[in-house]
Amino acid sequence: MRFVELKKAGIDISVVGLGTNFVGGHNLYNNVSEDAGIRLTKTALELGINYFDTADAYGLGRSEELLGQVLKGRRSEAVVATKGGIQWFEDGSTRMNNRPAYLRQALEDSLRRLMTDHVDIYYIHWPDNETPVAEAVGEVMRLKEEGKVRAIGVSNFSLEQLKEAVGAGDIDLTQLPYSMLDRAIEKDLLPFCVEQGISVAPYGPLAYGILGGRYGKDFKLDPKDWRNGIPLFKPENFQENLRKADALKEMARTKGTIPPNLALAWLLHQEGIDAVIPGAKTPEQVIENAKAADVLLSGAELDAIGGILG
Ligand SMILES: NC(=O)c1ccc[n+]([C@@H]2O[C@H](COP(=O)([O-])OP(=O)(O)OC[C@H]3O[C@@H](n4cnc5c(N)ncnc54)[C@H](OP(=O)(O)O)[C@@H]3O)[C@@H](O)[C@H]2O)c1
Repeated sequence: MRFVELKKAGIDISVVGLGTNFVGGHNLYNNVSEDAGIRLTKTALELGINYFDTADAYGLGRSEELLGQVLKGRRSEAVVATKGGIQWFEDGSTRMNNRPAYLRQALEDSLRRLMTDHVDIYYIHWPDNETPVAEAVGEVMRLKEEGKVRAIGVSNFSLEQLKEAVGAGDIDLTQLPYSMLDRAIEKDLLPFCVEQGISVAPYGPLAYGILGGRYGKDFKLDPKDWRNGIPLFKPENFQENLRKADALKEMARTKGTIPPNLALAWLLHQEGIDAVIPGAKTPEQVIENAKAADVLLSGAELDAIGGILG
């Protein structure tokens, strides 16, 4: 595995990490079993992957608990990124909450579930559009001063909100949707982050499975599948995305790699991206995705990909 230093925080992370959306079951449908989640997380650790991305909201705390179990006795080997700011209730409903007292309690709860005294990266998961950004970031800064957080991130913040956050504290990272098929952040958020030296952690790097190269023209999502809500899967976009994924699959074949690794390597070649956190449902996918760290793309190949993506 290859490692990179997170620019501002000075933390070494594997360039391929693991997104644990499915570990412990983030979604109500299309989850992996707890055993499978534990196995695939252990596989990542054995491969030398040290960068684990979770959130308190994934499985309403369960993802953190399972990650904590896997890391028991090996915590020092791992860089743990988690998120707070989505509050949930007994009936399963959620709301964004960035109030300082809530964020403090959320982090304390995350530390307990992860069985650790600090997290390496703490993100405000979503802006709540009520709490002044400076108040929310100010509280996470205090948590950092207390040694409970090593690096601070914000996720799903607009450019304006990110600018406010930067004005209020040391923002090391931001987590945003970004993949070959979703390049909206290239317009203004990514250039701003590059200018500021903020590392961008792209989520949905495999376009939630489309760039895995296994979906054909007849692929249909189950009506209960959460991905029905994502624009990439909307009928008006899906066939075009599949067409691009097919062309990329052919390019991956010619290059002697596999489609997800081409997609992850492409991200790793973009300025501002230090590492990727693909989600996986099996240990085999974790093993495959780890190899993206070794895929080098030439200028001509990047141009050819640009031609396919349009
Ligand atoms: N900050 C936020 O708001 C936010 C939002 C979403 C995600 N995230 C984070 O970002 C991480 C990554 O996003 P994601 O997991 O949602 O989506 P993703 O990484 O784009 O896609 C994951 C899916 O791709 C497929 N896949 C993975 N490896 C593959 C392989 N080797 N070959 C073929 N298919 C493969 C699997 O789906 P199938 O096997 O079903 O095809 C897998 O479920 C999450 O785990 C989470 O940590 C953050």
